[in-house]
Amino acid sequence: MLETFSAPTSQSLVSSTEPSVQIRNLNFHYGEGDLFKQVLFDINLEIYSGQIVILTGPSGSGKTTLLTLIGALRTIQDGNLQILGQELKGLNPKKLVQIRKNIGFIFQAHNLFYSLTARQNVMMSTDLFAHEGGNAMAAAKAAEILGELGLSERVDYKPHALSGGQKQRVAIARALVNRPNLILADEPTAALDKKSGRNVVTLMQKMAKEEGITILMVTHDNRILDVADRIINLVDGNLESDNIINNFSASHDEAGMDSRTFML
Ligand SMILES: Nc1ncnc2c1ncn2[C@@H]1O[C@H](COP(=O)(O)OP(=O)(O)OP(=O)(O)O)[C@@H](O)[C@H]1O
Ligand SMILES: [Mg+2]
Repeated sequence: MLETFSAPTSQSLVSSTEPSVQIRNLNFHYGEGDLFKQVLFDINLEIYSGQIVILTGPSGSGKTTLLTLIGALRTIQDGNLQILGQELKGLNPKKLVQIRKNIGFIFQAHNLFYSLTARQNVMMSTDLFAHEGGNAMAAAKAAEILGELGLSERVDYKPHALSGGQKQRVAIARALVNRPNLILADEPTAALDKKSGRNVVTLMQKMAKEEGITILMVTHDNRILDVADRIINLVDGNLESDNIINNFSASHDEAGMDSRTFML
């Protein structure tokens, strides 16, 4: 599974003209026969480089399923899905692993290695780690990003000695350390206090604006909605709304918003 979570190194797949994510008529179901359950219905979506898109919607509406499809972690059954210019449908597992190297994943189950320190967990994801003489650089890079996330005092702690929110930040550091082209985050701030949550989104915002990294983030956290360029809402597997934020804030006052947009 390590490869799934390793952050990318190559910038070569990025093109400024193509969307980072392009989804056409995507359907998805779990199970077969009596257990058949369709959870995504005819999804169409384009996300461009440098955009921060927040995906929201009720529990069970298909947000995580959509994120894992975009992350090349599930097989495309019906429809088309292009990531960084590459069609995922029909790709063999080896190719899918290559695609995943350009994606930074942040999931709620953080999957840290418990025998390694915070710094070592982050180092594992760096492109320098495997190279001769690269370890000192990897260690420095790991410590730097942990510092940016407010963990400079904790770099040599192992996960069992870290709080839930601190572990989550180590997982975030690991996803961001190699500056992936695309970041997929599933409720990245859920376990964090206000200040840590803000640090995380500020760092993501900086990466999106300065480095053109595309971010798709599932969140129910109203405190961070302001970083979004766009908010999309999934209800019962259908994309119900798609709001570009400039228009959004100009044309909606908080009381008048569709309550489902902020479903908790
Ligand atoms: N592996 C699976 N097998 C069968 N059904 C599944 C599986 N994973 C999810 N589901 C079902 O698919 C639907 C969508 O689940 P998904 O996890 O994508 O929702 P979600 O929007 O992320 O919800 P939440 O906000 O609670 O995380 C749910 O009805 C769920 O029960
Ligand atoms: Mg989910």
